[in-house]
Amino acid sequence: MKKASVILDRDYQIGRIDPRIYGSFIEHLGRAVYGGIYEPGHPQADALGFRKDVLEMVRRIGVPIVRYPGGNFVSGFNWEDSVGPREKRPKRLDLAWFTTETNEVGLHEFYEWAKQAGSEVMYAINLGTRGPEQARDIVEYANHKGGSKFSDMRIANGRKDPFGIKLWCLGNEMDGPWQMGQKTAYEYGRIANEAAKMMKWVDESIETVACGSSGSEIETFGDWELTMLDQCYDNIDYVSLHRYYGNPTNDTPGFLARTMDMDDFIRTVVSICDAVKGKKHSKKTVNLSFDEWNVWYHSNEQDEELKKSQRWGQALPLLEDVYNFEDALLVGSMLITLLRNADRVKVACMAQLVNVIAPIMTRNGGGCWAQTIFYPYMHASKYGRGTSLKALVKTPVYDCADYEGVPLIDATATLADDGSVTVFCVNRDMKEDFELDVDLRTFGEMKLAEHILLHHDDVKAVNTEEHPDNVVPTAGPGGTVDAGRAQVKIPALSWNVIRFEKA
Ligand code: AHR
Repeated sequence: MKKASVILDRDYQIGRIDPRIYGSFIEHLGRAVYGGIYEPGHPQADALGFRKDVLEMVRRIGVPIVRYPGGNFVSGFNWEDSVGPREKRPKRLDLAWFTTETNEVGLHEFYEWAKQAGSEVMYAINLGTRGPEQARDIVEYANHKGGSKFSDMRIANGRKDPFGIKLWCLGNEMDGPWQMGQKTAYEYGRIANEAAKMMKWVDESIETVACGSSGSEIETFGDWELTMLDQCYDNIDYVSLHRYYGNPTNDTPGFLARTMDMDDFIRTVVSICDAVKGKKHSKKTVNLSFDEWNVWYHSNEQDEELKKSQRWGQALPLLEDVYNFEDALLVGSMLITLLRNADRVKVACMAQLVNVIAPIMTRNGGGCWAQTIFYPYMHASKYGRGTSLKALVKTPVYDCADYEGVPLIDATATLADDGSVTVFCVNRDMKEDFELDVDLRTFGEMKLAEHILLHHDDVKAVNTEEHPDNVVPTAGPGGTVDAGRAQVKIPALSWNVIRFEKA
């Protein structure tokens, strides 16, 4: 058996974990809303039309914040269309996904759903086809107590108390040619600055997220951040990062190494934020909102076909990636990467939550089930709270097409407020088990409370409505703890959650 070790020290900390790193995302896209969280007439629908079975699954994960309503969709969205009497809400052509939006679910309904799910709303405004004026208006509508045009409109629409939305995205992926109202970095930086300034004048308690690059591979990455931050640094609190990975060439070791890119991406954006801070002699630190991350590629071909054959359709099954076991391993590594950067990544959203590149799937009129990626997400959200520890990992490495020196054992650890320690670990080795030595000597006497394992012999194994339990967590082989040193067996190709409690 191969050997690796993780050295932990209770005083060697990366920082407090902001629970919002376990956020997610619901866009008006495909069947995320209609046929996903909302399906009036479904046997599981509540009085508002929300599916109780879906809500239950969301609660199982523990999703502290949900980004809404887009995504690309938001860049052509008029928030006013989505409030007020439903029968008066207009149907609109959505140029992001070439479908028709009915506006049946809007801000009021979504807020109620999020409350039931135990989530805060992270609201994205349209800086594509619209500007600072409408940005100011929606903050007034959502957060002002009353006595003004838009706050009184909210009250007339049935909601006396302000929604009190704290976190606001200043548009979406404004660097991308696919975006309605794409801008240069300078144009975007100016408009984001003015929007954020006016939004904060309406409600000084809010925080804003400026659009960073829509991916680390886009040509303008780096220059985009530098230029736009130079314009809006003083009025924004976070910069967004988006990243999706795929395995179209069926190269599992290469695919599992993609978090090397994610880590570089985070570090580069941190450096640029701090460079602008230095240039401006600012005392404020801008942190990161990794508000779109996941695996996304399985559905690409089918989506192109659907967009052509059912143009302007409603609630089409778009972006319905069926996730396999290797996807769950990469998602595990992505969560580990977020934890490792918890000092600067304060918000992160798995994109998305239901049906659209999602951990939770539904069938219209039918069941609801967990995809493979549901499990690492749920485990991290449940056990990865408290403080992120700086784990010193000693492991053999491998080389692949894009990276050299990829750790075979990808691991990190957290210290919960009750003193328990959790090690999260992905074994990227295709064939060999590892014996993992965990040094816990500075934590006092600890016992191995639980070893949760996600493994399947077939990397392409998936869960379906008929076979929802094909890839599910089981009890891992565990190990021993002796004089503060644990020895735990980590099977080849596996996601592991190893929980230590005070003995
Ligand atoms: O999450 C799907 C899409 O991916 C979002 O709408 C967009 O922001 C990104 O390109």
